[in-house]
Amino acid sequence: MDTQSDTATTPELMPQGCDGDAALGADGAVIVARGVRRTYGSGDAAVEALRGVDIDLARGRLTAIMGPSGSGKSTLMHILAGLDEPTQGSVVLDGTEITDLKERDLTQLRRDKIGFIFQTFNLLPTLTAQENIVLPLTIAGRKADEEWVRQLIDTVGLGDRLTHKPAELSGGQQQRVAVARALVGRPAVLFADEPTGNLDSRTG
Ligand SMILES: Nc1ncnc2c1ncn2[C@@H]1O[C@H](COP(=O)(O)OP(=O)(O)O)[C@@H](O)[C@H]1O
Ligand SMILES: [Mg+2]
Repeated sequence: MDTQSDTATTPELMPQGCDGDAALGADGAVIVARGVRRTYGSGDAAVEALRGVDIDLARGRLTAIMGPSGSGKSTLMHILAGLDEPTQGSVVLDGTEITDLKERDLTQLRRDKIGFIFQTFNLLPTLTAQENIVLPLTIAGRKADEEWVRQLIDTVGLGDRLTHKPAELSGGQQQRVAVARALVGRPAVLFADEPTGNLDSRTG
């Protein structure tokens, strides 16, 4: 994957729905990334997944990152969410440079500001749907905002499946649990890595 301006013409990887500075509004960008490079491996086997990405993501807006398989979408999202470190470059999330953070501070920032919906569901098999949804709060030792949790469960339509374990749910239902779980802590940014593959157009 190349930088945004390189790829805008090639459309290998094009952010959509972010119409320039006007979209950033008074709140500015929730994420500002500059010169992000990520190389996997070294020597002959080195893969340059990201070669200098600059991107601003507007707060409160939906931005889609599109590109063919292997173009670096997951790598970019993991780096922007603090799940992976860039080989080079800077990522400022809600005013904090995350590439400088110690693991403990990064964990806290991820917990407080970021929701992530993975391509595979990453639910804990031994927990019920309800327990999986509130898991981030359980881990953080925080009390759930019950009204918010009820609203989330209602919105994703899982009210009658709350006591089911992931193995007893369909793929789409599991993904809806993952969506609710990603939103339970009211994150500043929600990342979703190809999350709709298992959803039909109605529940999606
Ligand atoms: N852990 C890894 N080790 C080595 N190469 C990787 C790793 N993860 C991804 N890659 C490579 O980086 C490139 C980008 O991958 P990825 O970000 O998963 O692309 P996308 O999500 O757009 O399909 C691919 O060429 C892939 O093979
Ligand atoms: Mg991917």
